[in-house]
Amino acid sequence: MSDSDQIDQQSRPRRNRRTAAIRSMVRETRLDVGQLIYPMFLHADPDNVPIDSMPGQTRWSLPGLIAEVQRVASLGIDKIVLFPKIDESLKSPIGEECANEDGLIPEAIRRIKDACPDTCIVTDVALDPYNSDGHDGIVSEEGIILNDETVMALAAQAICQARAGADIVAPSDMMDGRVGVLRDALDVSGFEHVSIMSYTAKYASAFYGPFRGALDSAPKKTGSKPIPGDKKTYQMDSANVREALRELELDEGEGADIVMVKPAGAYLDVIKAIRDETNLPVAAYQVSGEYLMIKSASAAGWLDEQAVVLETLTGIRRAGADIILTYFAPQVAEWLNGN
Ligand code: PBG
Repeated sequence: MSDSDQIDQQSRPRRNRRTAAIRSMVRETRLDVGQLIYPMFLHADPDNVPIDSMPGQTRWSLPGLIAEVQRVASLGIDKIVLFPKIDESLKSPIGEECANEDGLIPEAIRRIKDACPDTCIVTDVALDPYNSDGHDGIVSEEGIILNDETVMALAAQAICQARAGADIVAPSDMMDGRVGVLRDALDVSGFEHVSIMSYTAKYASAFYGPFRGALDSAPKKTGSKPIPGDKKTYQMDSANVREALRELELDEGEGADIVMVKPAGAYLDVIKAIRDETNLPVAAYQVSGEYLMIKSASAAGWLDEQAVVLETLTGIRRAGADIILTYFAPQVAEWLNGN
């Protein structure tokens, strides 16, 4: 190249991209295994069953769950969140099985704590796995999702989980006032050390479809009662971001320890807005539909799974999430550990 071909410019951003060593030095956002939470499914059956709607995910038996928790702990994944598939015979319109001390979740918590005491157990607080109507709250005869009655049931559920040994309870139900009631209920029962990770901005999203398939927990009509076919009277409208800040203000005031945005990928601006507004740790949930899109496109050979997963998670971190719930957690740990 002759001298005359050179543009006269001092600033050349490409110098900072020239080698892998330089790129790693100037990288602004990092992914760390310690920031990942692995959502896991379980049931009371004796077999581990692959989940059709979420290839690569399993509905674990209790022994299978313990073995998997141990395996992922060896990869550095020491935080999990549990989602139960409850037998139809145990479901009811008020979902009282959610507070059964001998139920599937308390039993799983005790066994995990026994086998893997250092693993941090997050539990889902919501009625949908236990509710024969398939809603996160109790549905009235008129088809209304009852707020305050539901919150009382959630408090009993959270205490039951805390008593079994849960480290963090995570209300995913979106009822008004539940964080404050859970905090009070936990405190008066001697569980002031148990944290609340609130689903602060949980949107009524079509990306939850595969999850509801995994747990058979979609809203459904069984009797004569009218049952809303969606969750739009409690989960948020996907068009809204100021409303997320309103939810944040409430959750902070009610004592949430961690605030969450869900889903993640289509809501990066919400993560950023919440990040800018709070000093609490912010979590984001890369949900089942986000998982399935990447899984199916990579299974077809259309996307490079590892590269796309790491790029999406980095994007979620860059938007401002400190913590990410992702079904890819064990795989990411293997990739980051260089396996
Ligand atoms: C329900 C709950 C849902 C998810 C987590 N908790 C589904 C819903 O709100 O209908 C979705 C998670 C996912 O899609 O990965 N309390």
